[in-house]
Amino acid sequence: MLQTIRFRALLAGFILLLSSAARADEGMWLPLLLKQLNEADMKKKGLKISADDIYSINKGSLKDAVVQFGGGCTGEIISDQGLLLTNHHCGYGQIQQHSSVEKDYLTNGYWAMTKAEELTNPGLTATFIVRMEDVTAQVLAGIAPGTVEAEREKQVQANGTKVATAAVVGTHYQSFVRSMFGGNEYYLFVTEVFQDIRLVGAPPSSIGKFGGDTDNWAWPRHTGDFSLFRIYAGPDNKPAPYSAANVPFKPRHHLPISLAGVKPGDFTLVFGFPGRTNEYLTSWGVDEIYSVDDPARVKVRAALLKIWDADMQASDKVRIQYAAKYAGIANYYKKWQGEMRGLKKLDAVQRKREQEIQFTQWVQADAARRASYGNLLTDLQKNYAQERDYVQARAYVNEAAFGVELLRFANSYASILDLINAKTPAAELKTAVDKMRPATSNFFRNYNRPTDQKVAAALLRLYAENTPPALLPAAVQTLKTQNPTTESWTRFADNLFAQTRLASEATALQVLDELAAGTATALTNDPAYQLASAVQTTLKTQIQPVYQANADQVTLLQRTYVAALRQWQTTRKFYPDANSTLRVAYGQVAGYRPADGVTYNYYTTLDGLMEKADPTNPEFAVSPRLIELYNKKDYGQYAVNGTVPVAFIATNHTTGGNSGSPVINGKGELIGTNFDRDWEGTMSDLAFDPDRVRNIALDVRYMLFVVDKYAGAGHLVREMTLVNAPAPAKR
Ligand code: ARG
Ligand code: GLU
Repeated sequence: MLQTIRFRALLAGFILLLSSAARADEGMWLPLLLKQLNEADMKKKGLKISADDIYSINKGSLKDAVVQFGGGCTGEIISDQGLLLTNHHCGYGQIQQHSSVEKDYLTNGYWAMTKAEELTNPGLTATFIVRMEDVTAQVLAGIAPGTVEAEREKQVQANGTKVATAAVVGTHYQSFVRSMFGGNEYYLFVTEVFQDIRLVGAPPSSIGKFGGDTDNWAWPRHTGDFSLFRIYAGPDNKPAPYSAANVPFKPRHHLPISLAGVKPGDFTLVFGFPGRTNEYLTSWGVDEIYSVDDPARVKVRAALLKIWDADMQASDKVRIQYAAKYAGIANYYKKWQGEMRGLKKLDAVQRKREQEIQFTQWVQADAARRASYGNLLTDLQKNYAQERDYVQARAYVNEAAFGVELLRFANSYASILDLINAKTPAAELKTAVDKMRPATSNFFRNYNRPTDQKVAAALLRLYAENTPPALLPAAVQTLKTQNPTTESWTRFADNLFAQTRLASEATALQVLDELAAGTATALTNDPAYQLASAVQTTLKTQIQPVYQANADQVTLLQRTYVAALRQWQTTRKFYPDANSTLRVAYGQVAGYRPADGVTYNYYTTLDGLMEKADPTNPEFAVSPRLIELYNKKDYGQYAVNGTVPVAFIATNHTTGGNSGSPVINGKGELIGTNFDRDWEGTMSDLAFDPDRVRNIALDVRYMLFVVDKYAGAGHLVREMTLVNAPAPAKR
């Protein structure tokens, strides 16, 4: 065994020498530590500006042009009037909200030709990071070693809240504390949250979502995945709720946009809010995802998407209603398949196991280490073994049982039942019920009952048949025995939908009226609620307690493991797992070899887009206007070698949440907007493969071309700061 490890290490080193130019750069770094940890390396790779120009709290720096867009994406500021660039798929929910069959902005795109035409988006926020700080000592103050996990967590919360509150007294800022390295360190983040974010422009889906789910998570790519918003502020330039009197926000910094393009080896930096990675899991942790969680979720989503897809294709109304929901479900359905494939190809579980063997040797070599870490790995292994069934059960509850929209919705009424049972005074009860009314109407706005009825037949069957029997509610056990066939599950669903009052808006509102009057049976007699409640009760009383106790134990052990790894690998630079906080990834523009005999180039063009065009396939349809520009070669200053560059890839370490992140060159100029990862690299949240992990970015010149030439919104381009324009061709 040892021999193979040494040999592999040698081999790995050898391969490194051979292809050092095209190896990806693992790491999502904390901006405030760049100077200390990364600046030298970044300079070597081509960074021309300083770490201070990227993150500073004393002067305007790149960070002042980067926002968290909504809860789950990134955006960058590209004009001195608060113009914000993000992905089309990040603005998708907003674009959908403004769309109807008559005004179908999803299909046709939307361009505000004046500021007055910019559309408001209640609930949407843009969050700047004002500063960050290591507050580990304050957060862990007074917590004795060995404190049980739940108690430790309570104290961490309390201390964290204290630190966060103190940091912003007397300001309009917000703040929070996040755990890093599994709770070995804690960081404070002070933020400025803007609440008036308006939609400025979106290309049609035939550009912004070109290639659809077929091309999603894959290279080569031709998706014009961008949309434009604008941040509005009060007259004092501070955050303010929507008001007609608000004015465009004046940022401390906006990114200049380079027209010079990219070539292999060019330095790139991705600045954004990566959501979640798990790079320090043990082999058992990776195996749990690979063999339990991912397969369960993929299996259920396959069934769900098939039904939604058929109904969306059959009706424009349903297509628009389900567009955003479908995109979200489809995205991770595909991602998890790529992840499983990548983990297998990388032999990730086995690699982790080999690392664990070396770790164990290091532990065994020293008495103090034996005392601290001697049982660590066996304990982790035991805990993962114990939770396997519970992980599977949770996946099927969330994906299958509550994949049925009716059941998830029915469950949302449970809180009112609690109020009735607690004998809440009538007025208070009425207020709570009144709050549910708009939520109810919102739900039905994007709900198609016949679709969900089919979903119920398919998903409840999957739930019944794939949950470990001991973790199924008794009622569902019975259903499972009663319904051996597809036909019988269909009949069951038909009956359920015929009897429930929660599957249409009018009757659901009636249920609310009755609840407001204190009649609990309006809900408790409803068969959909009964089923939802049985599932929820099993989750809460049988699955969650065991799962949570075990997960707490894993958290504790994992924290120790990460601390031990850092003690063991003294020369390795560690970065904390992504946790939706601001990070810098850096690397270089590079193609890659996805498979034996195949090499991928580092960029794509409009010509390649036209090669994929297929009027018979909605995912690859091209709009007449784009075809016209292509035929006339009307590319303006965005032309390169007779075409327009569309997208490029680089070796930056990114994940979900990095969508919309600025891709920045060595001089601090915008060259692209991140929107995806390659198919061969989707496992990089768990295990990184430097040869194959690439981030996919939209070339800024394609964005500019679409805004300027396609949409005729040149006024927006004039707002931006374009630099490095190639010299105009001599005639
Ligand atoms: N895969 C990209 C990301 O994770 C883009 C997803 C949007 N596109 C889609 N077809 N759902 O978010
Ligand atoms: N499309 C992803 C997002 O929405 C980014 C791609 C990735 O996960 O790497 O954040």
